[in-house]
Formats: sequence, C-alpha cells, structure tokens
Amino acid sequence: MKFFIDTANLDQIKEAEALGVLDGVTTNPSLMAKEGITGQENIINHYVAICEAVEGDVSAEVIATDFEGMVKEGEALAALHPQIVVKIPMIEDGVKALKYFANQGIKTNCTLVFSAGQALLAAKAGATYVSPFIGRLDDISTDGLNLIEEIREIYDNYDFNTQILAASVRHTMHVIDCAKIGADVMTGPLSSIKGLLKHPLTDIGLAKFLEDYKKGN
Ligand code: G3P
Repeated sequence: MKFFIDTANLDQIKEAEALGVLDGVTTNPSLMAKEGITGQENIINHYVAICEAVEGDVSAEVIATDFEGMVKEGEALAALHPQIVVKIPMIEDGVKALKYFANQGIKTNCTLVFSAGQALLAAKAGATYVSPFIGRLDDISTDGLNLIEEIREIYDNYDFNTQILAASVRHTMHVIDCAKIGADVMTGPLSSIKGLLKHPLTDIGLAKFLEDYKKGN
C-alpha cells in the first residue's frame, strides 16, 4: 500500500518524507490556498518545490474544465517535473482528457470521484489513479469505505491497472480500513499517518524497559 500525504504544506511533506514511508503527495487548489499559495506562478513554483522534497508521484490539478484547456494545462504541468501526475476532475471532458493523457503516456489522477460508476469510467479511460473521496461521503452519512470496496471488486473483476487512491482520508482508522479492503494508495493528513504509531502499551512497555535497564546499570 502506498502512502501519499494530502497537503501543500512543505514542512509536513518533509516531515512525512523523513519518516521514510512516504510514496507521494496529493494537492488541490483548496490545499494550495490554505497555505496562502495563490497565483499561477507561485503555484507552479510550489509544485516544483514539492517534487524536489519527495521521491514519489506529486498530483497537480488542472483548473480548466474544458478538454482543450485541460490538455494544455496538463501538458504544461507534466513538463514541470517527471514526478508530476496530472489531476483531472471526473467530468465529461475530464474523461476525454484522461484518455488523451493515457495515450501520451502521461500519468493522471482522476479526482472528485464519488461513485463506482465514475471509477469504472476513469479506469476505462486509462487513469493511472482514481481518487474516491471517502471522508466527504462519510460527511453526508454515506459509507465512504463501502465505495472503496465496490471499486476494488470491479477493478479486480477486469484486472484494471488503475490504482485506487483512497482520498479525503481524515484519520488513522480510515487508513487501516482502506488497507484491509485493499486500496492501492491512501492520501491523508500527516496526523493520519503518525496516528499509526500510537499505542499506549508501546509507551508503557518502553518506559518499563528503560527503567529496568537503569536498575541494572
Ligand atoms: O484528497 C482529497 C482531499 O484533499 C479532500 O479532503 O478532507 O477536504 O475532504 P477533504
């Protein structure tokens, strides 16, 4: 299972990278704005800075919503750095753009996926990653993890190569549940990754080991 971090915050990206378990980064226009990164030039420079800080795939989202615009913007993003994955919204022209980029050998991440049907379309169009937003489904009293299960079943039925990137992960239990279901990738905040570290018995056990060591020395 790959771990991506879902942020545009460079300090958090570097902290996750230093942990040695990071496989990539996802961003979106909202995450960029949250870090105060606005304007095309700043956003582009920030994508490059993220690519230089990590080793894996870095999703960069197009703003255009028409086919020609997405192609133009996506090609410019892909040319920025070999680690860039072009993030395309799940809309009609987006499906066409996914197919176009697949034919060009450019990696894509189909975003804003909320149904199994959308995930099937993204796979048919040759998306590298599909991003079902599980937290946002949970927010409206729909089981986000159930969508991951449905997509896993469909992709396995037909051996689709598209990787399921569980997105809008909010906490550590989402990560564990996605791993149990067999999501290929999860993207979440740093806290969802670092939460995996935590167990009180580990802390208690370590304190006791150190205490006993001191007694004998
Ligand atoms: O990866 C998608 C993500 O950025 C959306 O997360 O928490 O805003 O639903 P959230």
